[in-house]
Amino acid sequence: MTATEERKFFPEIMTGTHGPEEGAGAGTPWPDDVPPGQDDTWYPLRDDPWRAQRLEYFIAMLWGVTGVCGIGLMVVYWTGGQAQLEGYLLLAAFGCLGVGLLLWARNLLPGHEVTAVRHQHISDPEVRAAVVDSLARGAEPMMSRRGFLVKKVLVPVGGIFGIAALWPLASLGPRPDSALYHTKWYPGARLVTEDGRAITVDDIMVDGILTVWPEGYIDNPESGAVIINIGGAPVQARPGQAGFEVVSGANGLVCFSKVCTHAGCAVSLFNVLSMQLICPCHQSTFNILQDCKPVFGPASRPLPQLPLGVAPGGYLIARSDFIEPIGPGFWNRSGD
Ligand code: FES
Repeated sequence: MTATEERKFFPEIMTGTHGPEEGAGAGTPWPDDVPPGQDDTWYPLRDDPWRAQRLEYFIAMLWGVTGVCGIGLMVVYWTGGQAQLEGYLLLAAFGCLGVGLLLWARNLLPGHEVTAVRHQHISDPEVRAAVVDSLARGAEPMMSRRGFLVKKVLVPVGGIFGIAALWPLASLGPRPDSALYHTKWYPGARLVTEDGRAITVDDIMVDGILTVWPEGYIDNPESGAVIINIGGAPVQARPGQAGFEVVSGANGLVCFSKVCTHAGCAVSLFNVLSMQLICPCHQSTFNILQDCKPVFGPASRPLPQLPLGVAPGGYLIARSDFIEPIGPGFWNRSGD
């Protein structure tokens, strides 16, 4: 329906029989919403069907390239991935898709401007119905007259490209399950230095500190721990963690995870005067004598403590894994 027909069928819209309470004076015609004689179904190539069809085929070809690039992405990803090639394929795919959409919108869809005068009040139901009708006519060239482009090209290509976009989900890897809750510490694991040497209760002098791993796992960063000899200083244990330290003569040995509970950096600085461990990344500071609870910085959880024991020969061993997850709180820690 053209604007002229619309005027014929909805004369009250164009001439206005609205009362004075609606903003126009009695008998004053409303300004037209659509200028007389304007055809709101017009598009640039409507009068040139041959060129319209050629353009349609060209757009289909562009979107076909997008589909081929989508398949190419799947193949490249499946065969091991190659970041540069994937980048070129993505560039070509999105480029062709975008150029095709641009050509379609500029040449095959109604694209001229309609200037309407703004009304101050809500329109009549007839006016609103006419607007809906006009919108439907505007969508028609896209959804029905261009069925070839929409149904036979855009939808399949979108499907292929959508599937290609889902493939990188496989890169997320296997589910971690309970792996995030455990380290390589096990009952009876000897504490060893980075060169694999097992340590005894007498190896660390008072106020000394050493980084240790479970024997056989010195390459496992999650299992790194620091052991500190606090001498005879009193320690405050958290509920359920009393007796995690080893006291032998003048030595008092406590061991904590080396993985910062803020963002996972290695806690590697030790202030012997204040008996504090400090993370160099954001300066979270943990009080060793108070269960390594954070006293400064962004960390909100204490460093987990390793329960220590002594094996024959005076070797220091772990009595179990940490009894709580180490590191930052990426997972559920209800009760913290
Ligand atoms: S990672 Fe340790 S303070 Fe941020």
